[in-house]
Amino acid sequence: MAGRPARALAADPLTPEAFRRALGQFPTGVTIVTAEHGGRVVGMTANSFTSVSLDPPLILWCVAKGAPSYRAFVQADAFAIHFLGAGHQDLALRFAGKGGSGSDKFTDLAHAPGETGAPILEGLAPIFECRTWARYDGGDHTILVGEVVHFISKPHEPLLFHSGVLRAIGSERPQRELPHDSFARTYLAYLLARASHVVSSEFHASLKQWGLSVPEWRVLACLSDVEGLSVGELAAMALMKQPRMTKLLDRMAAQKLVERRPDPKDRRRALIHLTPQGRARVAPVVPAAMAHEAQLLAPFTEEERATIKHALDLLISRRS
Ligand SMILES: Cc1cc2nc3c(=O)[nH]c(=O)nc-3n(C[C@H](O)[C@H](O)[C@H](O)COP(=O)(O)O)c2cc1C
Repeated sequence: MAGRPARALAADPLTPEAFRRALGQFPTGVTIVTAEHGGRVVGMTANSFTSVSLDPPLILWCVAKGAPSYRAFVQADAFAIHFLGAGHQDLALRFAGKGGSGSDKFTDLAHAPGETGAPILEGLAPIFECRTWARYDGGDHTILVGEVVHFISKPHEPLLFHSGVLRAIGSERPQRELPHDSFARTYLAYLLARASHVVSSEFHASLKQWGLSVPEWRVLACLSDVEGLSVGELAAMALMKQPRMTKLLDRMAAQKLVERRPDPKDRRRALIHLTPQGRARVAPVVPAAMAHEAQLLAPFTEEERATIKHALDLLISRRS
């Protein structure tokens, strides 16, 4: 039967950010890929790993052409894939940090050349040691296909990546159900502290992939909404004392993420603005934060979501 393509929902605009966000809905495992080229050892966190063929035994992963370690990975004739486990969030974030000269990704990590010469990180398994079998162009990435020459398998609890967040399977499940009238389920300050942890901790852990600390993210997020804020306003919004905020803003201004400009209403006063670099840095993070929130609120009805937000807003606005 001829017909139009079925479109139950309106298609999203095909922008890089919307595309990245949509792809992020596909959960994957997380690996660290290592290689050695010209005496330089490189390693990066990668979730593009997939199996390809059983005979010959082939796997692939994709390396970004813009990555500092790109040349080393593409020119090396071997690489090693390490699967990360549920407790390896810190390692994943460390190897997702910028490499290049002066990088300390391998500091304090025991490693030694494996069968192919690619470094093997001690204590990690499963591991697949591969000789580079083919390199294919893949747009802004190169697809590296590896022939597995040696592997170590081990059952493990994997680390997952979904919607920009690193997590273990079932990590969102509460450990034990407490009685409804227990202190922990009724005392407001404790409820707020736990709610804040539930809402923020995973996302805050994922900020490193954008090279941002939590206070830097708060400043950039506040400024992305409003043109020009005073140090005091920013300190209140980012939950910081003013002197600490001033120091943070000095550092962010040195990195050219923010700039001070005179307030048009009172030129003795300076207001903080985002620079184009600051705007570009926060641009991919805001939609990721919103996607994370949508994921958190997915189990709630529309009415429950409105109630939660209204109750919190009421508490804040009546107090301040
Ligand atoms: C969960 C996760 C998965 C990633 N997957 C890939 C990937 O498959 N390919 C890639 O090129 N970069 C990937 N990255 C980004 C790199 O880890 C990051 O750009 C890193 O800085 C590259 O290392 P380098 O700076 O030493 O080149 C991923 C990052 C994270 C947090």
